[in-house]
Amino acid sequence: MRQIAPHGYFGAGRIEALADQIAQTQSSLLILDASLSPVQQRNLEKALQAKVVDRTGLILEIFARRAATREGKLQVELARLGYEKSRLVRTWTHLERQRGGLGKTGGPGETQIELDRRLIADRIVKLKRELEDVRRTRGLQRRARQRLGLPTAALVGYTNAGKSTLFNHLTQAGVLAKDMLFATLDPTARVVRLPSGREVVFTDTVGFITDLPTDLVAAFRATLEAILAADMIVHVRDIADPHTERQRQDVAAVLQQLADGGQGSLPPVIEAWNKADKLAPDTLQARAARAAALTEDEAVLCSAVTGQGIEALLEAIDRVAYGAVQVIEIRLDPSDGKRRAALASLGRIVTEEVREDGMLHLKLEAPASRLAAFKSGLSDHDRLIAE
Ligand code: GTP
Repeated sequence: MRQIAPHGYFGAGRIEALADQIAQTQSSLLILDASLSPVQQRNLEKALQAKVVDRTGLILEIFARRAATREGKLQVELARLGYEKSRLVRTWTHLERQRGGLGKTGGPGETQIELDRRLIADRIVKLKRELEDVRRTRGLQRRARQRLGLPTAALVGYTNAGKSTLFNHLTQAGVLAKDMLFATLDPTARVVRLPSGREVVFTDTVGFITDLPTDLVAAFRATLEAILAADMIVHVRDIADPHTERQRQDVAAVLQQLADGGQGSLPPVIEAWNKADKLAPDTLQARAARAAALTEDEAVLCSAVTGQGIEALLEAIDRVAYGAVQVIEIRLDPSDGKRRAALASLGRIVTEEVREDGMLHLKLEAPASRLAAFKSGLSDHDRLIAE
């Protein structure tokens, strides 16, 4: 493995070569596909007399441009401030000077850096509070959706795999789809009618990339966690990409990391082998054979552009979402509105009536996975009558 010095990322020879290249091309910016410490970045900028952006800095820049919703924007700004705070020494060195008598913004002798640090810290506190509010609203919206009793499918995938295009195709919702990184920073949800007439809520999420810096995973944790709450995951893959297998592993690794961190298990995954239209005929045949060899509902070859395979994908989603639906009959105290609401959020109430025994008898249709969790919490009072 390459040894990376704590103070300078490159050796003297490499720096000289880079400086030459920068002079020749009259560049003012160097983007490095690596993570730099603030000191390394500062020293490199000094040596090269050019602005240096590292991997995290670049990803934050892209995130900042793509963020569309309020939550996304707040998350990006928060992540950015945290990143900048650690780099303040570099950014503000030239401004560092004694400053006195700024009234309430700082006592005499407070340096510019301290002042800026404090401003950033204040802003971070404020942003966190705003983010909390936005999340609360989001939570309410999610619960409202759950009250519809519809299963949810979260679209995930490596960046540029075609999630937005597929989402559009499925929902005709007009979500931004461009050949750009991270076109979908914010999750959006739409109801889609399946061929059977039943419905599913689709959510579109952030695009994954290799080595998403861990502090960024933390920043977007709430967004990513929505994936775990879904009833199923549709993993969109660019099957025509030469690195498709590696991308698949990267996505699977992030999902596993999420599940481990959240103590939850991953919902069932269907792989949408997208961009089938880009495959040469013989490769297409080979891929189709491979998809067919997998167990049913594991992978569907499709194209979000031509529409081929989309019907089959929806059918697979239908089977996974509704295949394991159960109907149970439960009786509960008619005055127990809370419990009734909890039941209603699991699925669809088919019938309900108060019988002679004075109890409310409910027939509930819901995905078996949700009912399993509920059943383990049944008390003697809420007897499970039928399954
Ligand atoms: P991020 O938001 O960056 O994660 O990307 P994404 O996964 O949402 O990808 P997006 O839908 O923006 O598609 C990326 C590019 O692939 C766009 O240029 C699409 O037109 C193209 N694309 C998506 N699906 C297909 C497909 O089935 N066939 C072909 N040929 N191109 C596709």
